[in-house]
Amino acid sequence: MSDLLAVILAAGKGTRMKSTLPKVLHKIGGKPMVQHVLDAADVAGAKKKVVVVGFGAECVEGTLGKQAEFVVQAEQLGTGHAVMQAAEFLKDFDGTVMVLCGDTPLLRGKTLEKLFTEHKAVGASATVLTAHMPNPTGYGRVIRDASGQVLKIVEQKDANSRELAVNEVNTGIYCFERAALFEALQNTNCNNMQGEYYLTDVIGILATAHSKVWAVKVDDYQDTLGINSRMQLAEAEKIVRKRKLAELMDAGVTIMDIDSTFIDQEVTIGPDSIVYPFTWIEGNTTIGGNCQIGPNSRIQESIIGDNTTLHFSYAHECKVGNDVIVGPYVHLRPKTVLADKVKVGNFVEVKNSQVGIGSKIPHLSYIGDTDMGEKVNIGSGTITVNYDGKNKSRTIIEDGAFIGCNTNLVAPVTVGKGAYVAAGSTITKNVPSESLGVARARQSNIDGWAAKK
Ligand code: UD1
Ligand code: CA
Repeated sequence: MSDLLAVILAAGKGTRMKSTLPKVLHKIGGKPMVQHVLDAADVAGAKKKVVVVGFGAECVEGTLGKQAEFVVQAEQLGTGHAVMQAAEFLKDFDGTVMVLCGDTPLLRGKTLEKLFTEHKAVGASATVLTAHMPNPTGYGRVIRDASGQVLKIVEQKDANSRELAVNEVNTGIYCFERAALFEALQNTNCNNMQGEYYLTDVIGILATAHSKVWAVKVDDYQDTLGINSRMQLAEAEKIVRKRKLAELMDAGVTIMDIDSTFIDQEVTIGPDSIVYPFTWIEGNTTIGGNCQIGPNSRIQESIIGDNTTLHFSYAHECKVGNDVIVGPYVHLRPKTVLADKVKVGNFVEVKNSQVGIGSKIPHLSYIGDTDMGEKVNIGSGTITVNYDGKNKSRTIIEDGAFIGCNTNLVAPVTVGKGAYVAAGSTITKNVPSESLGVARARQSNIDGWAAKK
């Protein structure tokens, strides 16, 4: 393969988004738009990615980090001007420059691969990716001569009525031979309705100079939809989501209802897992095989093993083992680690705690900052009192301990191996292993009390 670099235009503010966040950082499928574009460029074999930043430059650079190089376009004078900012950076490069826009997140690597392959095969100096849009409004129109040769691209605002009737549009994605691109850019000007340097003018300039200009039609116009508004953002989200669900289903995951299931791009799920309706699985989440997830659940940034059930529950930044049952109505908060065969259910909250193999917290409990061993049984209504208003302290519950219902464990405190705690106790001192801790008032019954009252 010949040399390929990608230049990604991402300096614009995205005025129509009405946002303080740069447009290209708005997320689709849980991933910033521009990240989708960078990922597609990687698949196409780009050796380097140069991102042109301007509005919110630090923010964009901070988000993308080391995966790209950055050049700054201080003033947004148009797409042609934006590409010119990369001229210095690319001056020693002798190959193909693929120009992409940061606001086309539906782009897939295979689409770019096809564009690059055809560009090289025909030996063009410029190849534009075009699409037949059901509604071409807002896009630049691709103008061809009678023989089908591309003559130029005309922007919506500069087009006459005959040109506006064309529905083959410029997707804003191109391959250029570097030398031809920067030479032609020298000859662009801003004598147009928007007073901008248009990258699109390069196509007309090269065609007029009889340099070989080519066009590749995209197979699916949705790949190249540009996002300019919140409405388009929502539409793109829907498309990306459907694609992700299709990918998971192809890999053996059952999705009960594709309309009410929201799964981010980076999520992986093993085969024979079933995702029930109204479920969100977000961020860097990994779920094993043969799990039952949902309904009505949200999982973020978590790792879940095989054969695990999580229903009517919310888990974030935690780790759940194999053969675990979570739910209904459980909140697993960050730094919770549930080992294999654990059971947590019915209105239980767990935070920053380890729960050992086979332990059970079945009802109405708060377990925070706790190290729990194996085969522990936590009675209904147990609370770890981990916060004294100033400091957080840990509770240790060793293997096989049995905590009676409605217990307060006032941390720091340890319940030893195989120990018991009587129901209703407020435990402030360690309970040695194999012993019984009782900390409650004795019951007294007053005979005939009701009659005297
Ligand atoms: C552009 C194309 C249009 C095409 C459409 C496809 C031009 C003149 N027009 O129009 O033919 O149909 O994309 O989506 O190229 N940008 C900069 N610096 C600037 C201006 C823009 O970096 O000075 C970036 C934006 O951040 C954005 C991309 O370039 O990521 C496209 O800019 P935008 O203003 O959205 O162009 P369109 O009007 O959509
Ligand atoms: Ca656009």
